[in-house]
Amino acid sequence: MKAVVCERYGGPDQLKLKGLPVPEPSADQLLIKVQTTTVNRTDLGLLRGYPYIARLALGLFRPKHQVLGLDFSGEVVATGPAVQRFKVGDPVFGMSPSSYGAHAEYICLSEKSPIALIPDNLSYLDCVVTEGAWYADVALRSLAVQAGQHILIYGASGAIGIAAVQLAKLQGARVTAVVASAQVELARQLGADVVIDYTAQDFTATPERFNSILDAVGKTSYGRCRHLLLKDGRFAATDVGRFWQNPLLALFCTLTGSKKVRFAIPDIRENLLTDLSGYLKDVRYRAVIDRVYPLEQISAAYQYVETGQKVGIVAIAVAKEQA
Ligand SMILES: NC(=O)c1ccc[n+]([C@@H]2O[C@H](COP(=O)([O-])OP(=O)(O)OC[C@H]3O[C@@H](n4cnc5c(N)ncnc54)[C@H](OP(=O)(O)O)[C@@H]3O)[C@@H](O)[C@H]2O)c1
Repeated sequence: MKAVVCERYGGPDQLKLKGLPVPEPSADQLLIKVQTTTVNRTDLGLLRGYPYIARLALGLFRPKHQVLGLDFSGEVVATGPAVQRFKVGDPVFGMSPSSYGAHAEYICLSEKSPIALIPDNLSYLDCVVTEGAWYADVALRSLAVQAGQHILIYGASGAIGIAAVQLAKLQGARVTAVVASAQVELARQLGADVVIDYTAQDFTATPERFNSILDAVGKTSYGRCRHLLLKDGRFAATDVGRFWQNPLLALFCTLTGSKKVRFAIPDIRENLLTDLSGYLKDVRYRAVIDRVYPLEQISAAYQYVETGQKVGIVAIAVAKEQA
């Protein structure tokens, strides 16, 4: 099978398209023929081996897992004898959060992995949504967002921000989204109640006050936003921030004051994938696809993701047929 292999940490030029054996499913695994995958900020971090401390887990001198890629959609083509939830022919989507491997024509995963069926009305491309939704779900849970509460989402045009706007609306929150001019209309279409164009207006000068603030793109700080929080308000970020301030503040703020900083360790919620499948089916959640690259041009996709300017998802067409 064709697979994109990364033998050393570094830039997109480290990625090589190679032939590897098709993996064989063990007893509880599915063999999935990947149709679509994505390149996201997590893949970029894995390729760069950054932050460096992550190399303790990812491989000290070279990547332990040489085929990257978390998000995928595709078809189940074989199953191990103990598999119960899926059968050959099922169209599925999901994520491989610990061993990666989706930048290839085939991937083997336990049926206990975050995987769900693709709803009938949707294509493979419509369903490569898991990475952004996963981080957004983690952040919204850390903020304990509830119906009727008001949340500000800074950087609502990235993969995580777009997911956070949609998931917060599904939870019944009132959402203020902060984006650049070109994405104001998109944020409205996604359901944001108020949209602030950060290129035209300083969002920290808004008279509104919020139960929670999510910095979805790592470009603001608790210090800039603190005055916007109501009493008992919470701030969360998807990035560690300058000098690792977000995890440090999360520790410090548990001891002081009523306003809190949350920095959650990404864990996967058991029902996230089935929830997403239901939302996608009912058109209450949608993928925002910025660009689609063929597998052969995956280095160019990484280069684009590294600009920090993608809007939502950068997809990779692995198979030629994209039903
Ligand atoms: N904790 C983890 O393991 C983990 C995993 C994945 C990602 N992350 C972090 O989460 C963050 C977001 O990831 P993502 O995948 O959602 O990012 P992304 O898709 O690359 O987000 C880029 C978006 O942010 C917007 N943006 C750039 N600068 C901005 C600014 N100053 N203010 C507001 N918006 C701005 C860009 O549009 P404009 O430039 O047009 O505004 C673009 O649409 C990143 O910092 C990433 O490192 C963390």
